[in-house]
Amino acid sequence: MDMILRVENLSVTFENKGILKSEVFYAVKGVSFSLRKGEVLGIVGQSGSGKTTVGRAILGLVPYKGEIEFKGKTMSCMFQDPLASLHPYLSIRRQLLDILPDENRIKELFASFNLDYKRFSGKKPSELSGGQRQRVIIIRSLLVSPELIIADEPISMLDVTLKMWVLKTLRKLKQNFNLSMLFITHDLLTTKYICDRIMVMKDGEIIEEGTLEEVFENPKEKYTKDLLQAVPRL
Ligand SMILES: Nc1ncnc2c1ncn2[C@@H]1O[C@H](COP(=O)(O)OP(=O)(O)OP(=O)(O)O)[C@@H](O)[C@H]1O
Ligand SMILES: [Mg+2]
Repeated sequence: MDMILRVENLSVTFENKGILKSEVFYAVKGVSFSLRKGEVLGIVGQSGSGKTTVGRAILGLVPYKGEIEFKGKTMSCMFQDPLASLHPYLSIRRQLLDILPDENRIKELFASFNLDYKRFSGKKPSELSGGQRQRVIIIRSLLVSPELIIADEPISMLDVTLKMWVLKTLRKLKQNFNLSMLFITHDLLTTKYICDRIMVMKDGEIIEEGTLEEVFENPKEKYTKDLLQAVPRL
């Protein structure tokens, strides 16, 4: 199968500025993985384990050491906080048309995400509910026809039913467009519905990786077992 992204020996350091002395620490340390076309790879791990930083390095938003090779033309991202990543004063319609001046395509995507275009496109982000905004963010990230999407907790603000529905819709889109996705989440349960493979991060390093089945059925590391223990059973 074709590869779309290759990450080799990726490290990102930040500085902890103290009063007397500063120290450098690794937010991401020697991370390597690759992603195939059409594959959804989950990155899971506790808060602060370095998941978002990996995504930001791939998007070129933080300086890093190591190699990142993207074999496609376009990547896009979906972030957790939709209010922060949308323009506050422009209508949804305006800001989406600025990205892709093809209203029919936008209408199609609204329909596939069950959002009423007539009703919502004239509104500003603050006039939508959290779940509606998050769907707008997902639609926006698809407008550029990306081959790779970095999705960082894209459904964490949705309620449970909407979560499941958005995951299914993303899964469908992924199949239709052969999209690859890096799906970052602290919530192991959601990976079950969307990921083909998962990597577990701890303190900036990948400590375990495998197919969903391998990791869920037969976790090797204690940390992974603890994460799995924390997953509420449906
Ligand atoms: N811009 C920054 N400057 C300094 N430290 C940072 C910066 N961004 C992240 N960090 C630190 O790097 C570490 C990893 O952060 P990161 O945001 O990647 O974690 P995460 O796994 O995404 O956590 P969460 O699940 O809470 O989103 C944390 O200790 C964090 O405090
Ligand atoms: Mg994060």
